[in-house]
Amino acid sequence: MAWSLGWKVPRNHWGLLLKTIRGSGFLLLPWGYCPWRRTGSFLDHGMKAFLEENTEITSSGSLTPEIQLRLLTPRCKFWWERADLWPHSDPYWAIYWPGGQALSRYLLDNPDVVRGKSVLDIGSGCGATAIAAKKSGASRILANDIDPIAGLAITLNCELNQLDPIPILTKNILNLEQDKWELVVLGDMFYDEDLADSLHQWLKNCFWTYGTRVLIGDPGRPQFSGHSIQHQLHKVVEYSLPEATRKENNGLTTSTVWDFRP
Ligand SMILES: C[S@@+](CC[C@H](N)C(=O)[O-])C[C@H]1O[C@@H](n2cnc3c(N)ncnc32)[C@H](O)[C@@H]1O
Repeated sequence: MAWSLGWKVPRNHWGLLLKTIRGSGFLLLPWGYCPWRRTGSFLDHGMKAFLEENTEITSSGSLTPEIQLRLLTPRCKFWWERADLWPHSDPYWAIYWPGGQALSRYLLDNPDVVRGKSVLDIGSGCGATAIAAKKSGASRILANDIDPIAGLAITLNCELNQLDPIPILTKNILNLEQDKWELVVLGDMFYDEDLADSLHQWLKNCFWTYGTRVLIGDPGRPQFSGHSIQHQLHKVVEYSLPEATRKENNGLTTSTVWDFRP
């Protein structure tokens, strides 16, 4: 697979560009700037067409075959192409990461956890976990990701799953005061030490201010297992990863959902 989150070995051209998420020009556009939302502009159609042309609709190889997603797969041109030919910011939204897979599986199997609740999905990426929350009956959902193109991908993925669009916020909320959410979910967000520290502090404030429940999906990344947050976690469920996800994630074999209780 093309991507790695900081510590895995890249395997093809993409890996050369994306071997580390840190310092990779992750945020190339100002926070909150959504080119695809400029109604009537070329970018609306151009970006949508680009995503449709350069991703494949798939529901196989993940823990949630009931969710269809547009992802970058070996049948897509850019999977094999030189990384510097990709004209946009690194497309983390085009991968369904193992942490998000576990979290989504858990929400689909346990709708009581989300039914009637307000849910914030931080670092939503392809939007699968927000989609799982919506399918399981959440009353209000916000998908947050600093990459504006993720916003378009999430909208297209909602459409694929016959869901109304989920509201999307493309700015960094970790520097802001918390809003009131009943549940915050985060899939595979602990891949960078600085980000892990910011998330930890922000989530603690959420919990202490509003009693927000926080669920974290993680496949055992070192930035997570070695972080002080470990002392405040309770294991909810551990899933064995499908073969395809294992192959794409350099040997990761399981992914776990954790309940954060500081
Ligand atoms: C590894 S991906 C995980 C995506 C998805 N949750 C999943 O499990 O498939 C991490 C995502 O977090 C987003 N991200 C990174 N820093 C962020 C921040 N401070 N606030 C919101 N999103 C962020 C990235 O753009 C990327 O889409």
